[in-house]
Amino acid sequence: MSGAVSMLRPPPGNPATRPELTDALRASVQVKSRQVLELLHAIAEEFDAKGGATFANSFGAEDMVLTDLIVKSGLPIEIFSLDTGRLPAETYTLMGEVEKHYDIKLKVFFPQSEAVEQFVRIKGINAFYESVDLRKECCGIRKVEPLRRALAGKGAWITGMRAAQSATRTELAVREFDAGNKLEKFNPLSDWSEAEVWAYIRANGVPYNALHDQFYPSIGCAPCTRAVALGEDVRAGRWWWEDPTSKECGLHVKK
Ligand code: ADX
Ligand code: SF4
Repeated sequence: MSGAVSMLRPPPGNPATRPELTDALRASVQVKSRQVLELLHAIAEEFDAKGGATFANSFGAEDMVLTDLIVKSGLPIEIFSLDTGRLPAETYTLMGEVEKHYDIKLKVFFPQSEAVEQFVRIKGINAFYESVDLRKECCGIRKVEPLRRALAGKGAWITGMRAAQSATRTELAVREFDAGNKLEKFNPLSDWSEAEVWAYIRANGVPYNALHDQFYPSIGCAPCTRAVALGEDVRAGRWWWEDPTSKECGLHVKK
């Protein structure tokens, strides 16, 4: 796509440019929400006697849709989050809001303190800017290892990923086998558009990260996330100094 054409595309993650909540959009979201609920029911049933299913909640817009569906349906699906220690203040604010709004206590996994201490002492506090290897090492310590613990003994895990989010996710299936972590993985919102995610949030009064209103369509750790400019892709603000094809942190690698 030429630069001029892509500049015409409205920036995602800005409420002023989110599509109007039309009847058609509302209807498509209703249908898709029902389908996701049916899938969640099926997942809960299938994995009930196989360690159960757990949902990885990063508190991004997509994850708030799934949180809303899971909590309100009362399904026996666990919800966990990985606190890397470098999340934006707005994410912690939302975490508190979620606990109040849904009357739940969050299940948060933290990195191993010794590993973080070693990494920071030897490599430096912001070493992730220096190379892709150091960035992946930091993600390994702060995200991937805690994820292993969160998934231990589970039969399946659920994410809020969508196929349209990035070049690395275009082939995203609703169900796949996660060979790295050796369990089933579900991406129930794989075929949702960004407009549908926001339509669900608006129609259901779901709490969301304040950064989404400041041109942050995708939110990770504070030092590795920034706002996007007009025409930039949804994940352009994640590890913005890296090539788009390397922009995965190790949570979602294919083996
Ligand atoms: S990442 O791999 O680049 O960090 P992204 O932020 O797009 O991933 O999120 C994709 C999905 O990974 C989320 O919908 C969520 O299921 C899971 N995920 C990402 N970060 C976290 C986190 N900190 N805690 C729990 N789950 C997460
Ligand atoms: Fe470290 Fe950045 Fe990865 Fe967070 S996103 S774990 S700060 S490299």
